[in-house]
Amino acid sequence: MLSNRAANITPSATHAMNARLMQRRAAGADIIAFNVGEPDFATPKPIVDACIRALQEGKTKYTPVNGITPLKEAICEKLLQDNGLSYSPDQICISTGGKQALSNAVFALCNEGDEVLIPIPCYVSYVEIVKLAGGVPVLIPTNEDFSLNAENFRRALTAKTRLILLNSPNNPTGAVYSAEELAEIGRLAEENDLYIISDEVYEKLIYGDAAHISPAAVSPQAYERTVLVNGFSKTFAMTGWRLGYTASRVEISRACNAFQGHMTSCSTSFVQYAAVNAFRECTDEVEKMRLAFQKRRDYMHARLTAMPGIHCKLPDGAFYLMPDVSAYFGKSHEGQFIRNAEDLCNYLLDEAGIAAVFGEAFCMPGTIRFAYANSLDNIRIGMDRMEAALKKLK
Ligand SMILES: Cc1ncc(COP(=O)(O)O)c(C=O)c1O
Repeated sequence: MLSNRAANITPSATHAMNARLMQRRAAGADIIAFNVGEPDFATPKPIVDACIRALQEGKTKYTPVNGITPLKEAICEKLLQDNGLSYSPDQICISTGGKQALSNAVFALCNEGDEVLIPIPCYVSYVEIVKLAGGVPVLIPTNEDFSLNAENFRRALTAKTRLILLNSPNNPTGAVYSAEELAEIGRLAEENDLYIISDEVYEKLIYGDAAHISPAAVSPQAYERTVLVNGFSKTFAMTGWRLGYTASRVEISRACNAFQGHMTSCSTSFVQYAAVNAFRECTDEVEKMRLAFQKRRDYMHARLTAMPGIHCKLPDGAFYLMPDVSAYFGKSHEGQFIRNAEDLCNYLLDEAGIAAVFGEAFCMPGTIRFAYANSLDNIRIGMDRMEAALKKLK
């Protein structure tokens, strides 16, 4: 009955875990959510106020498919200031979330049968978006510390390789790629005539000495070959508003515009107007959120790594921790047997009332992804409960 495309899609494991969490909560269970990748903060007031003004001023009609000029100009200003990258408004395509921007870029560049190199662990949607576009995802293992392994990329090259999909800061690992790692990938793209799609939605969530560098900034050649994807969801706590963009060569930007024109048209008009001054007016709020995330990262990391058998690198970015939990495989409690990370997630949901996502969803068995986009109090309670539940496994 269904098309081959529909039949081949794997439903999102993160959404599935969320559905289970909602079910338990509806039945009265007290569940702490570490599964959801969205800031728990309110959207900054200047953005909310600008949205209300836009609605009152009647900014409720279709806009150009690729977005309103003042927002495209504000994005160009941001890319120059923050990333040292010079784009003109016709190189920007504004979309309904970073996810649509990413999909536009994959559809614009990927032919049927083209191979797309994706370092793993990776964001749940990458593999499915590539499959939807007719491409073939090729999963490239990272190093043990989740840094990029250029040799693994080189080994995977074939005549059909077309694209590299990068994400730094990374979901789920929190890794932030260095200038050297990115320069190496830029060279590889240049030598082998490949394009890079760079998902930078966690750009503003960086801790310690790490710095965000876009692959587009590593050389003029890499600039030409990179489609930069970014969005407002994570930086400005705007997940429900649905706003993102690509910055790329004009021909690619036009192709993104053409796809989007037939799929959804413009992103919501008053949301675009609300975001025009976000980069200029919300720097303090963004910094406050970053500092809160950093405290939570430090606390949760300390608690997790104090639990017997749990190993976890302290990541430099995003709001995720991805510990290795395989020491608990083969154990059980009251008939609940833990064979893998999915079993352990289900056990933690039942026994500890905490929700997290098993690593298989990100192509990384043996691990669990915890999002620390939750209050310090909730993280404290959740970690206490997890510690107690793990002690029961024999
Ligand atoms: C790595 C990554 N890219 C893109 C997105 C999509 O973000 P949005 O569509 O809300 O901008 C997410 C959301 O979780 C993400 O983690």
